[in-house]
Amino acid sequence: MKHTTAIAFGMALVATPILADTPRPDGLAALGEPPIPASNPQSPEKVELGKMLFFDPILSGNYNMPCASCHLPEAGWAIQAPISFGYPGTTHWRNSQTVVNSAYYSKLFWAGSSGSLEHQARSAARGGVAGNGEDDMMESRLAFVPEYRERFKDVFGDDWPNIRHAYDAIAAFERTIVQTDTPFDTYMNGDDTALTEQQVRGLDLFTGKAGCSQCHSGALLTDEKYYNIGVPAYSGWEEDELAQITFRFELYAKGVTEEMYRSTKDDPGLYFRTKETADKGKFRTPSLRYTKYTYPYMHNGMLETLADVVEFYNQGGGDNEFAANKSDLIQPLGLTDDEKADLVAFLESLSGDEILIEEPDLPAMEPLPAAMGTN
Ligand code: HEC
Ligand code: HEC
Repeated sequence: MKHTTAIAFGMALVATPILADTPRPDGLAALGEPPIPASNPQSPEKVELGKMLFFDPILSGNYNMPCASCHLPEAGWAIQAPISFGYPGTTHWRNSQTVVNSAYYSKLFWAGSSGSLEHQARSAARGGVAGNGEDDMMESRLAFVPEYRERFKDVFGDDWPNIRHAYDAIAAFERTIVQTDTPFDTYMNGDDTALTEQQVRGLDLFTGKAGCSQCHSGALLTDEKYYNIGVPAYSGWEEDELAQITFRFELYAKGVTEEMYRSTKDDPGLYFRTKETADKGKFRTPSLRYTKYTYPYMHNGMLETLADVVEFYNQGGGDNEFAANKSDLIQPLGLTDDEKADLVAFLESLSGDEILIEEPDLPAMEPLPAAMGTN
């Protein structure tokens, strides 16, 4: 219901909404500004540089794989495919995550293996199935761009662009790609009219009968803990030879046992970091914000639509190789068709307008003046 009182004020009519007469659920909140680490303060010049570097293929091995290639603004700042493509000659092995709101996480990646955006950017630019760049090479390329020499000097005081500063600038840019004005935020901030009646019913299910907020809690809709919810293994491990190669490479590089290397056919997730059997198949609870644009879903993109996700949970999650670790919180829900539709409608309220930006003009490399070449 929309309640408004019109107050005649001189010549103008001011509509004053009567706010928040419905209690808001505990444990969920509107999203505020993202935290900014003291070691990497924001400045407009740094953000502008980071934006250029996010779109510039200069930060990759083959001068052709910028961050934006796998985090396309018009594809939810991700890739709308189950598994991301990888560096030429490889496939990636997980679903591309959106960078929208990544500023709020304390752990990045599906299994939380990176502790900061700065660190994450470095892993992405260098990772064998992502940017596959080499720091010295990328640093030299930056130094061969007069405009970057000037910008790194101006922002960081660098005489010679420092590759670490490139990652700092990208992180600063990512901290501006946030969304705090979804219908859900407006509702939580007191405007009863921001959600439809169906969405309010969906919110009740989310925090009640469907139990979603047991894990998807707080302003980001995540507790940032790790669970195995039974997402089935990626079908491509069996069908696609490049995907199989990447999968085996990752198992090997991340140091699993010989036995596991030979037998495992599913992504062990958090196990890679802890080597605890109980962590096999666990992934970080993801934010549910911006998910309208980031299909397909889950670490391996095995669920196509939000309706599929709701159906998956309604059936008590799925089954995978590590089902012994499946969370007890995942149980059949017994939702009716109307309730499922309500829940999907609520999930849609967690996304606002698509975030699209004007892509920056990228500066070109030029041979170095002789006096600089000695650096
Ligand atoms: C080849 C494709 C590819 C490229 C290039 C790439 N990414 Fe990613 N990105 C991914 C995939 C896939 C994931 C999930 C990987 C995982 O969890 O193991 C990811 C995850 C992330 C995340 C984590 C989000 C979250 O919710 O935790 C951030 C942030 C990110 N990428 C930023 C970047 C930046 C910055 C660059 C450039 C320096 C970059 N990516 C380059 C594919 C790519
Ligand atoms: C036990 C904790 C837990 C509960 C309860 C839970 N989730 Fe999740 N959710 C997760 C985890 C963990 C993932 C990622 C799993 C993976 O990729 O293997 C996830 C993934 C998702 C995704 C995919 C997001 C993306 O970016 O791909 C959606 C959507 C989602 N959950 C919605 C819900 C809804 C709706 C409910 C309630 C019906 C719910 N979840 C209940 C932990 C939970």
